[in-house]
Amino acid sequence: MRILSGIQPSGKLHIGNYFGMMRPALELAQKGEAFYFIADYHSLTSVSDPNELRSHVVDVALDFLACGLDPAKTVFYRQSDVPQVTELTWILSNVTPVPMLENAHSYKDKIAQGVKPNAGLFTYPVLMAADILIVQGERVPVGKDQKQHIEMTRDIAGAFNRQFGEVFVVPEPVIREEVATLPGTDGRKMSKSYGNTIEIFGDSTKKKVMGIVTDSQPVEAPKKDLDKNIPLQFLKVFVPEKAKEIEAKLAAGGYGYGEAKKELLAALQDHFAPYRQKREELAKNRDYVEQVLRDGAARTNAVADATMKRVREAVGLR
Ligand code: TRP
Repeated sequence: MRILSGIQPSGKLHIGNYFGMMRPALELAQKGEAFYFIADYHSLTSVSDPNELRSHVVDVALDFLACGLDPAKTVFYRQSDVPQVTELTWILSNVTPVPMLENAHSYKDKIAQGVKPNAGLFTYPVLMAADILIVQGERVPVGKDQKQHIEMTRDIAGAFNRQFGEVFVVPEPVIREEVATLPGTDGRKMSKSYGNTIEIFGDSTKKKVMGIVTDSQPVEAPKKDLDKNIPLQFLKVFVPEKAKEIEAKLAAGGYGYGEAKKELLAALQDHFAPYRQKREELAKNRDYVEQVLRDGAARTNAVADATMKRVREAVGLR
């Protein structure tokens, strides 16, 4: 089974990325031949500073390798080292209906936020389809927010296959519904653009955790509405057993949110401690990281060339 996924280097990864995409992707990688990449072409739609883009790519590579991506088993590469995807994007754009792109939630959301639409933002889903189809990915582990993009990939692959013959495997998304909605520190979806993230390897974890928004019921009070309590939602993900205890203490009264947050901070630090050490080691060994990405690119290039040969023949470019 061939598995593919990508992540945008739009900043240091946060624990929403970790639970929504990274951990499920790393688990799924055990079950097949996985291709995971850093989507730097995609980031051009939001990052305009070249130095920032370069340093984000390194950060994401370090984060992934530190959290357990094994380059001996998983092909790990930088999207722009596989420029064949841009050729495929052009070819696929000719079987992609404009109304479908106009309906993309992420595009509409950005416009609603006042982002000036350029053609890159508009055709983002076609580039994403090319990423997947060029390696003939069968399973695509992603966060819930990417569901529509994968549906578009399926539509594009189907349209191409109907018009030019069966060239592409039609991929299936793999989405973990239960973990996809880890909230940010303010209760909205965790997202860099809301400034409500907790980074996996940030220096500000303590400040972020202690700053998580809660209601203002006093310490003595038996707490109500615990299903909406944000520290508790995190605890349920990190330490499910302990979360039950803490929920009971909160409900009984005499136990404050500050205590719950301290428990959460400890749980977070415990969870990521071994990865943090690995990341520090990797950060001192940048040549190794570069070598991993170059090897990954070489393997992906071979697969991409084989796909492009078939695509070019199918459409009549050869
Ligand atoms: N759009 C994805 C995100 O922002 C990243 C991505 C780019 C991707 N290409 C992909 C994910 C291909 C899966 C498959 O999270």
